Amino acid sequence: MNKVILYCRPGFEKECAAEITDKAAQYEVYGFVRVKDHSGYVIFECYQHEDADRLMKELPFHSLIFARQMFVCGELLRDLPPEDRITPIVGMLTGVIDRAGELRAEVPDTNESKELMRFCRKFTVPLRAALREQNILLAQENPGRPVVHVLFIAPGCCYVGYSYSNNNSRFYMGIPRLKFPADAPSRSTLKLEEAFHVFIPADEWDERLASGMYAVDLGACPGGWTWQLVQRSMMVYAVDNGPMAPSLMDTGQVMHHKADGFRFEPPRNNVYWLVCDMVEKPAKVASRMADWLVNGWCREAIFNLKLPMKKRYEEVMQNLALLRDRLEEQGINAEYHAKHLYHDREEVTVHVRRMWSSVPGRRDER
Ligand SMILES: C[S@@+](CC[C@H](N)C(=O)[O-])C[C@H]1O[C@@H](n2cnc3c(N)ncnc32)[C@H](O)[C@@H]1O
Repeated sequence: MNKVILYCRPGFEKECAAEITDKAAQYEVYGFVRVKDHSGYVIFECYQHEDADRLMKELPFHSLIFARQMFVCGELLRDLPPEDRITPIVGMLTGVIDRAGELRAEVPDTNESKELMRFCRKFTVPLRAALREQNILLAQENPGRPVVHVLFIAPGCCYVGYSYSNNNSRFYMGIPRLKFPADAPSRSTLKLEEAFHVFIPADEWDERLASGMYAVDLGACPGGWTWQLVQRSMMVYAVDNGPMAPSLMDTGQVMHHKADGFRFEPPRNNVYWLVCDMVEKPAKVASRMADWLVNGWCREAIFNLKLPMKKRYEEVMQNLALLRDRLEEQGINAEYHAKHLYHDREEVTVHVRRMWSSVPGRRDER
């Protein structure tokens, strides 16, 4: 199998393609990409056969911004006979992978794929049984073993392959299924919730999203992001000239500041979280986030970079570089993540966690 398939939001195939080409080259893996606009996936075909598996092991999935999932696959299986679609799929996996821990029969995230999704749900049952019979799949699901992926792109037409469970998205189709909370003031609440799921390991939530922490929300109205912080029992400074949802103000956990988010400074010195959803030029937002992190005004930040229509990959990379340079100049070590989340549209979400500063006298969170 010499291909890596990556899922993305339809319309972002070019960004996903530019990114995999760029990042694979950093591992000295070279190949070419096949892109079909609005298909919801991209195929990177490696020149060297064994490179696809190497990329799957070495290129950290969490470092990819525009990919929702990645797996190694072989040639497209076409015209699967309706009376036996299973045999060619089992044949493709035989000798390639054994004792996998899970099967995911998936489709690209497009409107046209909705019908196929229904087919996949039904097809999973007999396919799973056949894979188990051949020992390609373990009898019991095992989250520590590789995942078998079958991606149907049209009826009777699929890519078949595998991903490693320590270097993939743990979500079916790479999409966390989140339910909109009925009492949240805006749908964008799901962006911040998804960011927590993607950026913060579940076993660290109690420590890093802890009750009683102080948070600042820049561009907070009507309060979808603030709602998430309030749910975690935090105290929130919500900064925006617009109105906050009265139900949030009634909690007693929100202080509303009608102020410019680019000038607002922390009212106390133990703010842990900074979140920011202001609609502004990405460079301006990244620069303000750098101010907060350099000054030690917060420990962790989650913010959106709204993207222009052209050169979106380059724009994100430039702004991340700007941020990293500002922090490194000041001797500040940090973890960085950026992801085009399922709930993001023309934007990406960035997470930065300040680790420690080597500059004497600067607030040090070692
Ligand atoms: C996309 S909305 C935020 C939605 C919010 N995160 C939620 O979940 O409900 C962007 C907000 O940023 C605010 N905004 C834009 N520029 C701002 C600035 N310079 N200072 C403060 N707020 C600003 C707007 O008033 C608007 O309410």
